[in-house]
Amino acid sequence: MLGRVSSPLPPNLAHWLSLLGPETLVPRAEVRTYPAGGETPPSPEPAREASLARLEALREEASRCTACPLHEGRKNSVFADGDPKASLMFIGEGPGRDEDLQGLPFVGRAGRLLTDIIEKGMGLRRAEVYIANVVKCRPPQNRTPTPEEREACGPFLIEQIRCVHPRALVALGATAARYLLATEAPMRRLRGRIHMLEGIPLVVTWHPAYLLRRPEAKRETWEDIQRVMRILGLSAPRRPGGHGSS
Ligand code: URA
Repeated sequence: MLGRVSSPLPPNLAHWLSLLGPETLVPRAEVRTYPAGGETPPSPEPAREASLARLEALREEASRCTACPLHEGRKNSVFADGDPKASLMFIGEGPGRDEDLQGLPFVGRAGRLLTDIIEKGMGLRRAEVYIANVVKCRPPQNRTPTPEEREACGPFLIEQIRCVHPRALVALGATAARYLLATEAPMRRLRGRIHMLEGIPLVVTWHPAYLLRRPEAKRETWEDIQRVMRILGLSAPRRPGGHGSS
């Protein structure tokens, strides 16, 4: 089975992906067939339970982590928010002041905009997606995490992605996109296409904090979000006045 076709793809997306060629089809799991009346397939539940336990162990480890200097200023490490079994995972850069105080990602102004994108734009509840950051401790003055800080903390994020195993990933802003894709490419080259990370489609969009400074970029974010919704087979909620205008 190929990872990204665990549920039927919308026909236009399937066509689009087929144009990428077979090398982009990454096996997500070993394929086994079970003879009738013989060995029965293992239930996915034990694996799921193990992933949840692993996430809790990682959360605990992150709260005690001293691998980079960012731990010195933290009030709380900010591990994640949302459903660990989510189909959709958002990834930001790192906690700001509000997040450091509350121990939760995206709870300040930028977070409220992200919540609007999820709830008003996509018609999902925030609690049904999973939200995490590249670094778990707040960088001083909300500066961009250094490459050393990203490398020290990033393995937590990679493990989170493996445990949650969503059907789509959204990188919010250049820091998350560049870390996940191991590139220094500019946003204009990272947006507007579907990347693959360990067999999971990854869409790059603007960071909500950038949208607060440049509201005209919301139109492009809406295009990116529609791309994600097509991957997930979601249709946009019907609202008088349309989308992307708030
Ligand atoms: N910006 C981020 O990148 N992450 C947060 O959690 C909050 C703001």
